[in-house]
Amino acid sequence: MADGTDQKSSNQMWGGRFASGPSAIMEEINASIGFDKKLYAQDIRGSMAHAAMLASKGIISPEDKDKITEGLNTILSEIESGSFEFSRKLEDIHMNIEARLATLIGPAAGRLHTARSRNDQVALDFRLWVKEELQKTEGMLTALIAAFLDRAEENADTVMPGFTHLQTAQPVTFGHHCMAYVEMFGRDRARVRHAIEHMDESPIGAAALAGTGYPIDRHMTAKALGFREPTRNSIDTVSDRDFALEFLSIASICATHLSRLAEEIVIWSTPQFGFIRLSDAFSTGSSIMPQKKNPDAAELVRAKTGRINGSLIALLTVMKGLPLAYSKDMQEDKEQVFDSAESLELAIAAMTGMIRDLEVRKDRMRAAAGSGYSTATDLADWLVREAGLPFRDAHHVTGNAVALAEKKGCDLADLSLEELQAIHRGITDSVFDVLSVEASVASRTSFGGTAPSEVRKQIAWWRGRN
Ligand code: ARG
Repeated sequence: MADGTDQKSSNQMWGGRFASGPSAIMEEINASIGFDKKLYAQDIRGSMAHAAMLASKGIISPEDKDKITEGLNTILSEIESGSFEFSRKLEDIHMNIEARLATLIGPAAGRLHTARSRNDQVALDFRLWVKEELQKTEGMLTALIAAFLDRAEENADTVMPGFTHLQTAQPVTFGHHCMAYVEMFGRDRARVRHAIEHMDESPIGAAALAGTGYPIDRHMTAKALGFREPTRNSIDTVSDRDFALEFLSIASICATHLSRLAEEIVIWSTPQFGFIRLSDAFSTGSSIMPQKKNPDAAELVRAKTGRINGSLIALLTVMKGLPLAYSKDMQEDKEQVFDSAESLELAIAAMTGMIRDLEVRKDRMRAAAGSGYSTATDLADWLVREAGLPFRDAHHVTGNAVALAEKKGCDLADLSLEELQAIHRGITDSVFDVLSVEASVASRTSFGGTAPSEVRKQIAWWRGRN
């Protein structure tokens, strides 16, 4: 390192990439226009509301306000038609728009930035974007829930094995299983609604961090931009990214739910399980094995969870060491949120399509439900109820019956009355009423249980709320 050659070659390592030296590196690390151009509509809307407020408070003239509004409208159509030229030299969306405004309307453009800073401006734009994205997510979750409610209704009586440890546990209905997902995505939707409420405060007017001496009206801009009220502390306002973190937490939990569902779809669609058939629209073939139909969409939904969870950790890590108020680190908030939003939308849409289209193979579910001694608990419960045994003894007696059936290679319902009585003399003919899977599910009428009658109540409850 001491001699000049080494110095030169290490410089060349980055010098080649950044031909024009350190200022090019600065531009590259500093610029956010590559991704924050996504915020153009929010930025323009925010500026229009700000200009209108400045004029109404006599801080700028009505003429300047009109020029600003007209110029911003022109910029909006330029961006939407693709004719706007974004410049990396101008760093971000805020300065790109302001510079263009100056070209379009002259000195009046310089008055727009009165009583605001890019710190409250970016907080506003991003918050508006996240709020709109959450509103979209809410609608998409409602569609997914609706798809599940329809499948649950059609399958309120469809018997399938219920699993714990992925081992056959007790028979349940497919309708009940679908309703478990309705509960999960219903919680996600409730979290989305809460988050929208939390973030429904307008940052604009916090200025750089301390507020401003101009006689602004933050309630007016808040109202114009569709917020419930303005934020209450200007320092917190420009340093807060909780709304982005909340979005990412909600997205991570929801993606985790989607991933568990995806995993079940992968398992259910194997020839070994054969519980469902995926539509051609949501599966692919193999280029070498003609018999295969692969659940690619489900696998990719499962995989998207990785990047969404990663984004949450990334932004938590960006924020964790920042002193109040704004630091440029916070510019790293956007890509995480944009990428997660895109992944989550795609995952929910793919899942909604899969659930709507999938074919339920009732015969295969029914056959699997009857195997694995899934009604053993029903036998034990019968012994408690009808023969007066303590549950622990009933459990033991049932274990003997399962062992016998296993030895004979048959189901519990195939054992004869004599064989059952040899295990416990209190057993009578009526035991066969509970050994079928249909009787088993029909008996589970506790609130929230798997009985078709109970599942229909759950469906009706969910249909009644939206
Ligand atoms: N592009 C910046 C961001 O996304 C905008 C705010 C810049 N503020 C500043 N004081 N440099 O965070």
